[in-house]
Amino acid sequence: MVNIGLLGLGTVGTGVVEIIEKRKSELKDLTEKDINIKKVLVKNIDKERNIKLEPDVLTSCFEEILKDKEIDIIIEVTGDVELSYKYITESLNSGKHVVTANKAVVSKYFEELSALAEEKNLAFLYEASVGGGIPVLKSLKEALALNKISQVLGILNGTCNYILTRMVDEGKNYDEVLKIAQKLGYAEADPTADVEGHDTLRKLRILGTLVLQGEIKEEDILLGGISAINSNDINLFKMMNSTIKLVAEAKIYEEGYTAVVLPTIVKNSNYFANVNMAFNSVAFEGNNVGQLKFYGSGAGKLPTANAVLSDVLDIVMDTYRKGNPLGNRELVNMNSKIKEEFYLRVSGTNDEIIKALRKISKKVLTIGATTAIITEEIELSKLEDIMSSFKVDKKRYFLARILD
Ligand code: NAP
Ligand code: HSE
Repeated sequence: MVNIGLLGLGTVGTGVVEIIEKRKSELKDLTEKDINIKKVLVKNIDKERNIKLEPDVLTSCFEEILKDKEIDIIIEVTGDVELSYKYITESLNSGKHVVTANKAVVSKYFEELSALAEEKNLAFLYEASVGGGIPVLKSLKEALALNKISQVLGILNGTCNYILTRMVDEGKNYDEVLKIAQKLGYAEADPTADVEGHDTLRKLRILGTLVLQGEIKEEDILLGGISAINSNDINLFKMMNSTIKLVAEAKIYEEGYTAVVLPTIVKNSNYFANVNMAFNSVAFEGNNVGQLKFYGSGAGKLPTANAVLSDVLDIVMDTYRKGNPLGNRELVNMNSKIKEEFYLRVSGTNDEIIKALRKISKKVLTIGATTAIITEEIELSKLEDIMSSFKVDKKRYFLARILD
């Protein structure tokens, strides 16, 4: 018997319980063990839940789970950052393996938690933290043993991709689609983390740190979100035979690396243009394997719970990667050197701003009263400086990269 302590019974936690219930006998056939959820931690024990558990399984006391010597594996799916850091460290220190879907905690404490798990000779696995249901991290850790990986590129947030797809394909309004994404269980408790790009940034921090085998900090990643997009932008992208995606990219060069999360204009013929709704995709470039692409559901109850449980299976069958998967390469950040063409739309412009923008534009696009430019090759910081010199609030302009 393998006993699990489940921390959190929201969207993902409920999915974990459901899959274990439904697949009990198949799981036993595979692992030759009964997998049992012994305790479930929740915040509000009196909340009505649409899942039935044996009496005494629910608790609001973490200590009860921590002190239970029969619990071998902790699944952390609460979403709280500092509290889950405490739960994860205390669990590892008590000899329990840990699986989490919480990218915020992995991103913030990646090096420390990986080192602690190695020191304790335990598993610390986080497959569901990047790309929802896509089995990308396990494959990546394996590919890293065989390849030097020079680039990772991906659509990593289901909520943003869902919003952008429905705005482009159906002309839906931003606020309306965000509400639907929340109802479908894709969005974070505070959806600002999704739409302002922080969730994607955390996932790139995890992926990039693994791929480049050196620490990429959250603050080392250039960030832009999708919340300022409007229907005029969408119509202009359509006129360019393109669409818009929130794309994350980390790339290594001889002199250093770049790491960026920005809305990105993608030609309709590009592979990433066809990654739609809440699907995610991650592509790597390895020196032996060449290009590898992973695609699947990026968010939602069952796909995410599936990824959590694939980590649990690796622990039960002892097939997880031992040791610390992080490298100690010294990396030089070259984001300030990124010089590209950008799309920039500013609302409510005056003559002075238009004059300044024309000086740096390669092409001017208009739709109704809206004017946008495609810039000449320019540093992103210079563009942002121009906007702040005219005191243009971030909500009034939308900026995007253009994928080759
Ligand atoms: P959720 O629906 O908000 O559920 C959170 C659960 O954790 C609830 O059961 C809540 O208890 C419990 N909880 C929250 N704070 C707690 C505390 N201080 N002490 C004890 N229990 C606490 O969240 P979710 O969507 O399942 O997401 C969980 C984690 O998975 C997050 O880190 C998220 O980023 C990650 N994730 C989610 C998805 C997705 O598609 N939803 C995909 C990948 C990763 P109550 O039920 O009593 O309120
Ligand atoms: N809020 C996240 C998303 C959940 O929309 O991608 C999956 O990590």
